[in-house]
Amino acid sequence: MRPGAAVAFHDLAPKLDSFRDAVLDGLSRAQKRVPCRFLYDERGSDLFEAICETPEYYPTRTEIDILKTNAKAIAKLIGPDATLIEYGSGAGQKVKLLLRALQRPRAYAGIEVSREILSRATDDLSLDFPNLQVVAVCADFLTPIALPPVLQRGAGRRVAFFPGSSIGNFTPAEASRFLDQCRVMVGAGGGMLIGVDLKKEETRLDAAYNDAAGVTAAFTLNLLERMNRELGADFTIERFAHHAKYDPAIGRVAIHIRSLANQSAVVAGRRFHFAKGEGIHTEDSWKYAVSDFQMLARDAGYRPVACWTDPAQLFSVHYLAA
Ligand code: TRP
Repeated sequence: MRPGAAVAFHDLAPKLDSFRDAVLDGLSRAQKRVPCRFLYDERGSDLFEAICETPEYYPTRTEIDILKTNAKAIAKLIGPDATLIEYGSGAGQKVKLLLRALQRPRAYAGIEVSREILSRATDDLSLDFPNLQVVAVCADFLTPIALPPVLQRGAGRRVAFFPGSSIGNFTPAEASRFLDQCRVMVGAGGGMLIGVDLKKEETRLDAAYNDAAGVTAAFTLNLLERMNRELGADFTIERFAHHAKYDPAIGRVAIHIRSLANQSAVVAGRRFHFAKGEGIHTEDSWKYAVSDFQMLARDAGYRPVACWTDPAQLFSVHYLAA
């Protein structure tokens, strides 16, 4: 903890399967895959920040604009003395915007699986907002968590904050389960503020996930480099390529690492074959029209209260009442 920061740290010891086990299991399947959280090692997290700066990747800057433009209206719906609970809190830039707009925010809890990122972000927040009670909860947000008692008291609303369209990285069924779990956690009278990327023309989405400078490709291929670094793998990176494609029929960007040749590689002592054109699935990013998402939210027991978008209709921020 940095001097001056006063953060209560709750370590719920998230059980993460190790990179090695997940990779060996994932590469043994008919459709090879590696869970997307392994994209975010230190190098991967830096590359993801760089993706957010590319001209093609509009979601981050558009969501920030929406939050800035509508901060007053959002603060009014959330009301005074609120407790904010952020999932996958990451660097925490967006929540600062929100906290500055709120009337006497009472407490903030960041729920994040990466201990280092979590403690850095919550220390930082606590220095910026000395009157705010800041709690760090190190946990996997896919499993239901019991909130520390300090977050269960207080007069204001409890509101879950889930920016960045991370909801799109779940399948719709998982998304529904996650929303339902959040609703139970914030309790009756609580709310959810969530950023959701919108369906749009294919060319725009394909560009966002295939930036011209190749930052996204580097981000995806870092997964193979990570296997070389950490699992003694012998991938020749140049023989693989990043591949991301939007399917407008279902509203999903599918992201793969594609083998450019018939080849094999050794990973943690085991040999795996890759046919030319075969893909390792790394992530999906589902897109929702405003009405699609409101339906999903209703199914998960919420009442959609407000939705803000940008003038070009690229991105949406929803406020849902639990
Ligand atoms: N949550 C981000 C999204 O769905 C993650 C992301 C952006 C991503 N670009 C990527 C994941 C490229 C894998 C590859 O937009």
